[in-house]
Amino acid sequence: MPFRDKFYHGKLAWRANSEGGFVPVEDAVVVVDKLEKVFSGDVRAVDSISFEVGRGEIFGFLGPNGAGKTTTISILTTQTLPTGGRAEVLGHDVVKEPSKVRKGIGLVAQELTVDDELTGRENMELQARLYAVPYSEAKKRIDELLDLVKLVDSADRLVKTYSGGMKKRLELSEGLIHRPQVLFLDEPTLGLDIQTRTSMWEHINKLKKETNMTIFLTTHYLEEADALCDRIGIIDHGRVIALDTPEGLKKTVGGDVIEIEVAECDEDILEVIKGMPGIALLDGTCTGNKARIKVPDSKTSLPKILNSFMSKRIDVASVVIRKPSLDQAFLEFTGRELRDEESNSKPGHKDQSTSRGRFRRRR
Ligand SMILES: Nc1ncnc2c1ncn2[C@@H]1O[C@H](COP(=O)(O)OP(=O)(O)OP(=O)(O)O)[C@@H](O)[C@H]1O
Ligand SMILES: [Mg+2]
Repeated sequence: MPFRDKFYHGKLAWRANSEGGFVPVEDAVVVVDKLEKVFSGDVRAVDSISFEVGRGEIFGFLGPNGAGKTTTISILTTQTLPTGGRAEVLGHDVVKEPSKVRKGIGLVAQELTVDDELTGRENMELQARLYAVPYSEAKKRIDELLDLVKLVDSADRLVKTYSGGMKKRLELSEGLIHRPQVLFLDEPTLGLDIQTRTSMWEHINKLKKETNMTIFLTTHYLEEADALCDRIGIIDHGRVIALDTPEGLKKTVGGDVIEIEVAECDEDILEVIKGMPGIALLDGTCTGNKARIKVPDSKTSLPKILNSFMSKRIDVASVVIRKPSLDQAFLEFTGRELRDEESNSKPGHKDQSTSRGRFRRRR
């Protein structure tokens, strides 16, 4: 479902639900209202975004490189000032009451911040002191957290001897030392192997269940966001272009997508498919040498399409069938795959390589 403007009445925020209506977000702990950040050189990193996150939610912020995810987190965690709009975390304005905001939040930044020259435990102790956690309480929490992230055995080794995954896990436990109500995780699993990613997610899920902590995270891993997030906002070029539950986002995809690689894809190929009897074409685009076709059921449509291509002497190099997934939803909303557009990541950049079929559904 496309993102729609929300409205506010007092502190009560409303959000679009997957049925097309609006529901109140009770106890919104993050409220973002027309937030904007323009860097010098007119770089619109965050372009008037509005959304809110309810207490206890795992909220995923998904978007390609340069979409504005880290900038948004920087504003919400009071490290960067916005150039427009407003944001509240735990009822406190991030510009007017930054210290009150900081008391209630934890942050695991995209870049590693742990000190290599200290041991894991010393890093944790330093963090506890920074947040003024009383010594005896800190000692107890450090032991619990090191156990949670499975670093007990390496706690007294210098961090420079840790692997990347161990450092990330240490960062996570540091972000939790003062028991924040809202935890911001910027790419918590980026660069980790599958096993470490899975265990990281287990920790995050456990935290949510045990503490009702609100978790605001960014990720490039759509499957993970799908499995773990209660709601997902898709951000692209500084704008929130979709906001819904993973199920709601997938519902927007509708049918199956068939990707057919040919020597050269153009509108004629889409016309061939469009003219075929018995094919209910929901959507069609050409990108480079790939035709992406959406049909209600690929099982019945694909043989017909391939037969027709053969009879018209259109050579097919490969065929991929995609069932409705979050990847697909991302593609629907942005016109691109999450991982294939490093070069197109500048705000304001328009993807020139995609030629939309003329029967593309409008939204
Ligand atoms: N301090 C800055 N000065 C100028 N431009 C900046 C600054 N910080 C970020 N930007 C630009 O703002 C845009 C958004 O950057 P941001 O780091 O928020 O993206 P992101 O979604 O977190 O990307 P990634 O997935 O690569 O981490 C980018 O075009 C980036 O180059
Ligand atoms: Mg980032």
